[in-house]
Amino acid sequence: MAILVTGGAGYIGSHTCVEMLNAGYEVVVIDNLDNSSSESLKRVEKITGKTVKFYKEDVRDKDALRKIFKENKIEAVIHFAGLKAVGESVREPIMYYNNNIQNTIALVEVMTEFNVKKIVFSSSATVYGEAKVVPLTEDMPTSAINPYGKTKWFIEHILSDLYNSDNEWSVALLRYFNPIGAHKSGLIGEDPKGIPNNLMPYISQVAVGKLQKLHVFGDDYNTPDGTGVRDYIHVIDLAKGHVKAVDYVLKTTGLEAINLGTGNGVSVFELRDAFVKATGVEVPFVVDPRRPGDADEVYADASKAKKLLGWTAELDVKQMCEDTWRWQSGNPNGYEQ
Ligand code: NAD
Ligand code: UFG
Repeated sequence: MAILVTGGAGYIGSHTCVEMLNAGYEVVVIDNLDNSSSESLKRVEKITGKTVKFYKEDVRDKDALRKIFKENKIEAVIHFAGLKAVGESVREPIMYYNNNIQNTIALVEVMTEFNVKKIVFSSSATVYGEAKVVPLTEDMPTSAINPYGKTKWFIEHILSDLYNSDNEWSVALLRYFNPIGAHKSGLIGEDPKGIPNNLMPYISQVAVGKLQKLHVFGDDYNTPDGTGVRDYIHVIDLAKGHVKAVDYVLKTTGLEAINLGTGNGVSVFELRDAFVKATGVEVPFVVDPRRPGDADEVYADASKAKKLLGWTAELDVKQMCEDTWRWQSGNPNGYEQ
């Protein structure tokens, strides 16, 4: 019996493969390598001493999916595959709808054909839209403000409608906050293409000398130091949350939205300072105007994950910074040698 991991060669997917293998699950990956490298899976095998069965295919290809379901006894699916850059989604909305929505529909259609009705989906805190109240709880109204966010929001609705039509399904909608960090081996980590959009990869690329200075997007937010506050979560904690979510969907039916965050808010200045302290490397910065669409504060109420899954984040910001740096300094060009 195996778990199918779509997008398993990517950042969160590769770390989740490690934790799934460590927990004793057999793992099958489908990834088109659109935003990743198969090297990550070789390193997953190195870290765990176990094998990952890999199919280089597109999740929109139903025949490829059928082949995987025929060749493996799949019990449940973790669905990471998708495009994730907010700015790009504004410029290329159809590409985002085409990939994220179509691949999910193809996946659940083939899962239905093979009577596999257990799915853990990568949603995002972005579905809380422009919520003004923190901490965010799962019962708050959801919405979306950009095409990327809309794909997550639509998919949550698609999976809810699916569950409502057939109560044999078990669906976990995992709403991630801000994943950062890397495996402590330094062998796998985040490998963004081009100039990073997100704060932590930007900081670490400044530290390694690939970028000149950090651009802090606004210091006039309604927060203690004026910079944006987010809920950074170590990718290993996030990966362990997926193991718990798979355990959960395997033994239940139903549909649950679950926040995966720490519950702690950390500002841009605080994260930069923590990185400098943890690594001893300077990160020069300049304050720029706000980035459109950014909220003052976004952090989770993480109590539902604790109650339902028995999961809480354990690693602190210092470990997030140390582990990011071990990966970035050991692999300045990511998986490209
Ligand atoms: P990633 O880009 O590193 O991983 C996604 C993987 O999916 C990549 O390996 C890519 O090649 C693959 N992929 C994309 N489209 C595919 C398709 N049609 N068929 C097969 N493979 C395909 O991204 P990540 O950071 O690991 O994110 C994983 C998931 O989590 C995504 O769905 C993302 O939207 C969601 N998420 C990420 C964050 C974050 O900050 N990283 C936050 C919230 C939600
Ligand atoms: N920031 C900077 N400089 C940068 C990058 C970011 O100051 O170069 C600031 C932002 O203004 C924000 C904070 O750092 O205050 C975090 O920004 P990120 O881009 O790292 O993360 P976001 O919270 O904006 O968004 C991320 C993902 C989204 C996802 C969301 C879920 O990119 O896809 O988390 O909460 F939807």
